[in-house]
Amino acid sequence: MLERTFSIIKPDAVKRNLIGQIVSKLEQNGLKIIASKMVFLTVQEAKGFYAEHDGKPFFDTLIKNMTAGPIIVQVLEGDDAIAKNREIMGPTDPEKAPAGSIRKEYAISMQQNSVHGSDSPESAQREISYFFSEIEVFSAP
Ligand code: TYD
Ligand code: MG
Repeated sequence: MLERTFSIIKPDAVKRNLIGQIVSKLEQNGLKIIASKMVFLTVQEAKGFYAEHDGKPFFDTLIKNMTAGPIIVQVLEGDDAIAKNREIMGPTDPEKAPAGSIRKEYAISMQQNSVHGSDSPESAQREISYFFSEIEVFSAP
């Protein structure tokens, strides 16, 4: 089923010049970039985006890391895009990530794990509209 998901290339990866290599992995695995821009989140914007994690022990560090530099926000489209993107990313903890996954190849730690991907159709919808209006998203013909 053709689906859309939301992706972030996080500050740790942008700082280390990994935008192109991460985009390549997404494209090589059949996901199409249908929206993309660079943004620098304020603390308030990062807190709103990650509201589901508010109150958890890692929340403050997460907000600090997500506001440490600019990020790339993207909408990806493809068959089973939500699950496929999560598979290409690898699990949250890079030590558990399989060879070839983005987090295995590029993540520094669980806290600085290079990418974000939506985990469900509901979060994909919320996250896409957090950053993009409908006229900024270009569905594949
Ligand atoms: P989560 O949504 O659980 O992971 P994912 O990014 O794989 O969907 O958590 C969001 C981010 O919070 C995660 O990418 C990194 C950070 N985090 C920690 O720093 N420590 C933790 O124990 C967890 C679960 C997450
Ligand atoms: Mg998550």
